[in-house]
Amino acid sequence: TATPSPRTTASSPTGLPLSRLSAPYYAPWEDLASDLPRLIQTGQIRPLIDNLPVLTTASLQSEPEWRRAYSVLGFLTHAYIWGGEKPQDPLLEISAHLGLPPCATYAALTLWNWTTFPEADVTNPDNLSLLTSFTGTKDEEWFIVISVAIEAKGARVVPLMLDAIAAATANDAPRLTALLCRFSDILEDLTVTLKRMYEKNDPNVFFHQLRPFLAGSKNMAAAGLPDGVFYDLGNGQGEWGQYSGGSNAQSSLIQTFDIFLGVNHSATGDVKPAGTGYIQEMRKYMPSPHRNFLQTLAKLTNTRRYILSSTDQSLKEAYNSAVLSLSSFRDAHIQIVSRYIIIPAKSRAPEQKTERVNLATASSQVKGLEDKNPTGLYGTGGTSLIPFLKETRDTTKAATC
Ligand code: ALA
Repeated sequence: TATPSPRTTASSPTGLPLSRLSAPYYAPWEDLASDLPRLIQTGQIRPLIDNLPVLTTASLQSEPEWRRAYSVLGFLTHAYIWGGEKPQDPLLEISAHLGLPPCATYAALTLWNWTTFPEADVTNPDNLSLLTSFTGTKDEEWFIVISVAIEAKGARVVPLMLDAIAAATANDAPRLTALLCRFSDILEDLTVTLKRMYEKNDPNVFFHQLRPFLAGSKNMAAAGLPDGVFYDLGNGQGEWGQYSGGSNAQSSLIQTFDIFLGVNHSATGDVKPAGTGYIQEMRKYMPSPHRNFLQTLAKLTNTRRYILSSTDQSLKEAYNSAVLSLSSFRDAHIQIVSRYIIIPAKSRAPEQKTERVNLATASSQVKGLEDKNPTGLYGTGGTSLIPFLKETRDTTKAATC
């Protein structure tokens, strides 16, 4: 007695396979399909498929239409795979050139994604704007330009740190003390800039609109990427990749501070399966000259060793306040994470619980911290969010002597 639904119709009214999806909506597919031999022979098919809009199935009414759609897309898929030139993925080539992974790293999202006006003070986020945005919101712009301003301010610390290493080498304790005091002042100033995050970035906009786009492809099975992302080289070739999402642990500036002060993060957030620290792992997400600089700095730095072997009390105090200024910077970051991630995640309406990218259920790549992660939330970089940040802050603090 059941009435057959249109979807169970065995064939088109003529009994023949449907010759064309009649809805104009599907014209982009049908137009390519009807001209396929010419488009393959003239080498036009791949760019035309690349430029196709992504259409939904919402306008497929009957089973013959689903079959026609399947046939057309099957043709287009194989025309794309076999009808192009040699395998090529410009993103793989470009990222190899720069020594970066093929994904949206801190360099892509932040370091190389801002602009300003002539003569502007680039250490003031009010003077900065974004080149490319996922959401087009002021909130996204502010989220990024705060980091740009921190980078611009923090850049002043780099020559200072090199001078401090030279002062330790020359056994010049008063000069090293003065430079460490200056380091603390600048770090405090960076914390002030970091706290300006609240001014123009609404936590709900950040959490619901922007954050899903910052997620990576590593350990994202729960978000629908069990094997990561396939980097298609065409001709049936390609490779699967799994990468962390955007993370400020990819800022070479911040890692410079730790290396300079001799803060040892090697055990912070062990990553599977390599057994190296997460912070170390994030160096692979930096432009190669930055990575090389950090390696060289790690070899050169002598400040902590020098201070530990010194009896100069004011030098020790200056070092300790430098370390504490870095841990206060991390405290401010933890507060921001709480306001921008923990609170919005808790207050999500039930129907919003299936996010486009479910970072809450993505599994952690950080060993040993899962049990201590009561919120079950993970950072876009893949860490057990709060436990990782607290561990990083505590390891920093522990460097005081
Ligand atoms: N790493 C930041 C997050 O987890 C951006 O949202």
